[in-house]
Amino acid sequence: MNKLAPKNGKYTSYQDVIATDKIAPPEDMHMHSSAQYDFHSISKARYTEVEYHDLEMKKVWSRVWQMACRVEDIPEEGDTYVYEIGHLSLIVVRVSDDEPQSLSETKVIKAYYNSCRHRGRKLVEHNTSVQCIRCPYHGFTWSLEGELTEIPYEWDFSKIEKKSMPLLEVRVDVWDGFVFINMDPDAESLKSYLEILPEQLANNFYGEQVVVKHSQQVLPANWKTVMESFMEGLHAQETHGHTWAHLSDILQYDTFPGVRHISRSFHAVGLQVSEGREKLTEQEIMDHFHYNVHLGNPDTPPPQLGQGVTARQYMADIMRAQHTLKTGKDHMHLSDAEALDVLQYTLFPNIILFRGITLPIILRFRPNKNDHSQCIFDIFFLEDKPKSEVESPAVETVHMAAGDTYEEAGVLEDWLGHVYDQDMVNIENMHGGLLSGPDQEVYLSDYHESRIKHFHHALNLYMNKELGGE
Ligand code: FES
Ligand SMILES: [Fe+2]
Repeated sequence: MNKLAPKNGKYTSYQDVIATDKIAPPEDMHMHSSAQYDFHSISKARYTEVEYHDLEMKKVWSRVWQMACRVEDIPEEGDTYVYEIGHLSLIVVRVSDDEPQSLSETKVIKAYYNSCRHRGRKLVEHNTSVQCIRCPYHGFTWSLEGELTEIPYEWDFSKIEKKSMPLLEVRVDVWDGFVFINMDPDAESLKSYLEILPEQLANNFYGEQVVVKHSQQVLPANWKTVMESFMEGLHAQETHGHTWAHLSDILQYDTFPGVRHISRSFHAVGLQVSEGREKLTEQEIMDHFHYNVHLGNPDTPPPQLGQGVTARQYMADIMRAQHTLKTGKDHMHLSDAEALDVLQYTLFPNIILFRGITLPIILRFRPNKNDHSQCIFDIFFLEDKPKSEVESPAVETVHMAAGDTYEEAGVLEDWLGHVYDQDMVNIENMHGGLLSGPDQEVYLSDYHESRIKHFHHALNLYMNKELGGE
């Protein structure tokens, strides 16, 4: 066990917590691993310099698998989704109504550079549904499969053969309803890229879910700054102090040697923070939780715990029962950890996913156009839903302006939105702060910030790899 894991009363680690739970989690959650890295600080230039961003575009974004959209965003033949990453724009097109297979490169969905092969105009400006892809400038037209089918005033293009000018394709694969693209023809398969993720998140059943809510906001900081604010619990006491009585300081961070793209952390819920805080009774923990979830204004009194029942146990039981009722599926045997804790995974470079039922959301971070000092932050909220019942699969995006709050945006529950709003105050002050200080490095802690080290280690792997032909 890692000696640096926080201690909390009788618990010395997250493993101690799950060892006493009523329903134990799956075997893989009993593993703990800390890969070792030989750096404790990273250059600020990673966040602040346009040159670094330019290299990221060439060496990272052009070579990684990245989640462009969900299958339900393009349910029918001809449905087209525009995915933008930095200065690059791609069109993702449903070529047939057949279901794409998971983790097997698909021809049911194709993706192309969103650039006309005549003189370069963007071919598609917004998500839409089309029978062919026709450039709005002069009318060059391609089939959904990418073959050039029409050249207006063809006699005037004597040097162009239609066959030699298909749309330029990028690779597409699907994992459990997530559509991934990769611009590198030589990249490893998505299956290999995702490493341990599909197995560990198998019980999330993403393939049986649809996105029911989506928010998008442009934030004034580098995309890595925003993502890293979700990858450690070190800031919880300072930034989210009101949660101390039920969101513990017991976290396990896992980085596995040889696993390049995935890290995870487990954060125990239903226990108090011990460091610097008085000891609470189980009922007091329950009371704090109740008031915080209702943002200080509950319309019912807190539940009263029976003799010998802990707050953690009560909360796990309630979560299981509520989720069973809500989904109509039996979740009564789900482990306490998967019912209650914050079980978070990072998929390099820019996705955060949550295992279990507590937070059915996916977070995505990317540079806003070609601006390294701005991030597009997406939150996708998923729910179990048979696809046949989805009347309007293209969910409305809540476009949040600067200053809009997550508490009011309606995508997250209010109490969680309140927590995210506290994070956003840090974000607003990070980029300017990085630019202001004379230090050239930012420092990372040994344990709490080990997932951020893992992330930068992966970033280094791509940034240090030579480009083809160089
Ligand atoms: S730029 Fe597209 S048809 Fe001319
Ligand atoms: Fe936070």
